[in-house]
Amino acid sequence: MNKKEVLKKTKEHIKNKLSGEGSGHDWWHVYRVWKNAVYIGKKEGADLFVVSLAALLHDISDWKFNDGDDDVGPRLAREWLIKMRVDEKIISHVCKITKEVSFKGSCVKTKMSSKEGMVVQDADRLDAIGAIGVARTFAYGGHKNREIYNPNIKPEVHNSFEEYKKNSGPTINHFYEKLLLLKDMMNTKTAKKIAKERHKFMLEFLNRFYKEWKGKDF
Ligand code: NI
Repeated sequence: MNKKEVLKKTKEHIKNKLSGEGSGHDWWHVYRVWKNAVYIGKKEGADLFVVSLAALLHDISDWKFNDGDDDVGPRLAREWLIKMRVDEKIISHVCKITKEVSFKGSCVKTKMSSKEGMVVQDADRLDAIGAIGVARTFAYGGHKNREIYNPNIKPEVHNSFEEYKKNSGPTINHFYEKLLLLKDMMNTKTAKKIAKERHKFMLEFLNRFYKEWKGKDF
C-alpha cells in the first residue's frame, strides 16, 4: 500500500471510531490537529508521513477515557499500522509520539524526543487554546459533570500526573491549571506564533466572563 492509501484508510478508520463523540475528543478535533500538524510540519521541515499518521492516531484511545491507562492508545495504533503493512521503523516512531503526546498536568513536563513529535504535540496543544479551546474545555467539563465556575474553589497546581487525573475542580480553573500555560510550552517557532493570538483571546474571554458574572458589563 502506498503512503497516500495508508493515510486515506487511517483517516476513515479514525473518523468511524471517533465520530459523534461529545467530550471534545471527537473526529473534528483529530481533523484539526492533523491539518495544523501538516501546516507546522511543512514549515519546520518534518517528515509529513510520520506527522500525519501520528496526528490521526494520537487520540485513538485517550488515557482520559481508559481509567488512566496510557498504553492502550499506542497499542491500538500499532495494531492498526501493522494491518496497514507500514514499516516497523515508522510504526515505532508513530507509537512513541502517540504515547508522549498527552498533557499530564501543568508541572509534569512531557518532552518529545523527535521533531515530528514536537510538531504533533504543538498541533494538539493549539487545539486546546483559543476559541476552540474554550469550547472544548466546557464540553469536557460538562462530560465530567463539572461546574462552569465556582468562586470558592481556587485553581490548583498539579505536581504529578496522578494529581492531574484526580482533579475535579470547576471548568474555569482549568484555564489556570492548563490552558494559559500552553503558550509557553510550544516546541516550534510556527506554533508559538499561532499560540500568541489564541492566548490573547482566552484572556479576553476570561475578562469578559468575570465582568458578566459580577454584572459589571452593563
Ligand atoms: Ni488530542
